[in-house]
Amino acid sequence: MDNGILVIDDEPMILELAALVLGSRGYEVFQAQSGEEGLRLVAEKGPAIALLDYMLPGMDGMTTLRRIRQDYPQTYVVMLTGKGNQEIAVELMKAGASDYILKPFKSHDLLERIGNVLRIRRAELSNQELLRERERLLKEIESWNQELERRIEEKTKELEDAHKELLISEKLAALGHVVGGMVHEIRNPLNAIGLFAQVLQSEADKASENAACAEKILQEVDRIDGILVKLLATSRRSHFSPEKIFLPEVAQRVAEVFSSTFKAHKIRLHCDFGPDLPRITADAGEIEQIFTNLISNSVQAMVGRGGDLQIRLFHDDRFVHLILADSGPGIPRENFSKIFDPFFTTKEKGIGFGLSVVLRIVKSYGGAIFVEESEGPGAVFHIQIPWSREEAGEVAAGAMGIAVRD
Ligand SMILES: Nc1ncnc2c1ncn2[C@@H]1O[C@H](COP(=O)(O)OP(=O)(O)O)[C@@H](O)[C@H]1O
Ligand SMILES: [Mg+2]
Repeated sequence: MDNGILVIDDEPMILELAALVLGSRGYEVFQAQSGEEGLRLVAEKGPAIALLDYMLPGMDGMTTLRRIRQDYPQTYVVMLTGKGNQEIAVELMKAGASDYILKPFKSHDLLERIGNVLRIRRAELSNQELLRERERLLKEIESWNQELERRIEEKTKELEDAHKELLISEKLAALGHVVGGMVHEIRNPLNAIGLFAQVLQSEADKASENAACAEKILQEVDRIDGILVKLLATSRRSHFSPEKIFLPEVAQRVAEVFSSTFKAHKIRLHCDFGPDLPRITADAGEIEQIFTNLISNSVQAMVGRGGDLQIRLFHDDRFVHLILADSGPGIPRENFSKIFDPFFTTKEKGIGFGLSVVLRIVKSYGGAIFVEESEGPGAVFHIQIPWSREEAGEVAAGAMGIAVRD
């Protein structure tokens, strides 16, 4: 209340006089005869000013003053003190009084003091309000800043990822081109070597050293041919024939092929296929290739130590997810971004193609592959392939592909 004034005095005369003088100037006046009653009215009416007598029976003026200033800081206090109490005034001002008036007072003096305190109060309160508003605005600006920084970071990361992905795509495309031509050039003379070796073998005495040499040549020729075929597989899509594929079926088929390997190396297979998995339109051979390459990497990682291989399949409204996790030694973090590079291998006899083939296939379906930081040791690969037609288009256009997840 901005024009409410509470007068607290035990002398009825003073109460009446003050009420008269202040009331005539349009103030709304409340009256209390003791400190206790005064506090109650301050709480109830919220006056702008309490005109408070210093000499009160019961709760004294100083205590009342402190209580008002502490509990109701919006109510300012002007003290009434008797003559001879001037030295008290300093104490009262320290305790939070805004001014003091000596009794007996003149009415114009009272009005002037009250008017002054009201002006100061108004200025101070609005100043406080402004400070609070300023504080609030600063906080708001700060939070906007943080949001901006976060967005910039996010966009920068997206750009970096897109750039990395572009580099890999370009590399794969260039490589495919070179490899395609190279394989062709090499396979012709290789074929000839094989044929000549066969001629030598058929003409040599079966038990002779020559026959054994010819046999070795043929074996090596086969090995080279095998590598070339794999190379070709990374560079282009052969006999692509799409059909409706049920991933658990493919997973099981490939696992079946590996079953004796699993047994020999003490690898336990755990399959966890979610319900109602949608079919995807894909080339069965390519999907098998994904499983084969990932599983054979896991097997190689667990050779000699045994372990667990988990294959999980589940879906959401956009993607079918495949998670393949093994309990091998895992992939060091610094290799996360390299393992999909063609030719990157850490194995003595590795070629470094398996994962680049997986990446190429997954990308061709508009999907993505992530290598995930696992909690324990072991490698975790996460592939997502869109299962609805629109989704496939959209994701392919968004050029998702490889990403390393933290
Ligand atoms: N399951 C896995 N556990 C540990 N390392 C793996 C795993 N899968 C892939 N890697 C790492 O990724 C590299 C590339 O794999 P890949 O492209 O299949 O080529 P390669 O198997 O011929 O080395 C491997 O050499 C290995 O360092
Ligand atoms: Mg491999």
